[in-house]
Amino acid sequence: MSGNELRLGVNIDHVATLRNARGGATPDPIRAALMAQAAGADGITAHLREDRRHIVDADIEGLMSALTVPLNFEMAATEEMQKIALRHKPHAVCLVPEKREERTTEGGLDVAANDNTLATYIAPLRAAGSRVSMFIAADPAQVEACARIGAPVIELHAGAYSDAWAEGQWDVRDDELRKITEMARFGASLGLEVHVGHGLAYESVGPIAALPDVRELNIGHFLIGEAIFRGLTGSIQEMRRLMDEARVQQGTA
Ligand code: PXP
Repeated sequence: MSGNELRLGVNIDHVATLRNARGGATPDPIRAALMAQAAGADGITAHLREDRRHIVDADIEGLMSALTVPLNFEMAATEEMQKIALRHKPHAVCLVPEKREERTTEGGLDVAANDNTLATYIAPLRAAGSRVSMFIAADPAQVEACARIGAPVIELHAGAYSDAWAEGQWDVRDDELRKITEMARFGASLGLEVHVGHGLAYESVGPIAALPDVRELNIGHFLIGEAIFRGLTGSIQEMRRLMDEARVQQGTA
């Protein structure tokens, strides 16, 4: 890949959601992850929630031993999750808010309000070799706080942008895209690696994929849903194609 590659992380949580709906073993998220890897995913993302509503502990173990691409382990900033991450030492750890008190009004993790606590929290994860990422709103105070606490990566929350696409609210969409564009640039200028995720779909991925400061997209719900119609391989390959096309058109490839 070129020096300005755009990676695709495929989030497999929703395969586990479907499995857990029946309480059995199928569909198997590890099998889905291996298929995603074969289809061109550059990484697999899985969120071990405190209530284990989709991914469970055994899935993380299975992913760690089965995958050859990196695992991006999403988790809340709790003591329990820190212990699990330190045991597995995944390639990446992405801190996400699970409780209302941890998030900003836009839905990202409130790093600015908890910078001291989070700086202490991420230190052992970084020392263990995991690349720590913060899932934040496209807000300068949050981006700055991430740089201040020494997080090497930020993931900008694309929820409002994606919802605006789905609802046909073009002014909101353009405004959200502008914020993501500016904060991607700002983050990169502070030396942060910038990722974007949440709610992205075929129709909405292009303008985000075209941003030269963005290095990774994490996409789950849409891809797993689309797999019903195209199969998982076809669903992922089409997303990859749209990402590459957007990058080439903008001259960012
Ligand atoms: N990035 C982060 C940090 C997430 O928590 C999620 C899942 O909500 C995603 C990306 C993927 O979002 P989606 O499943 O809506 O594509």
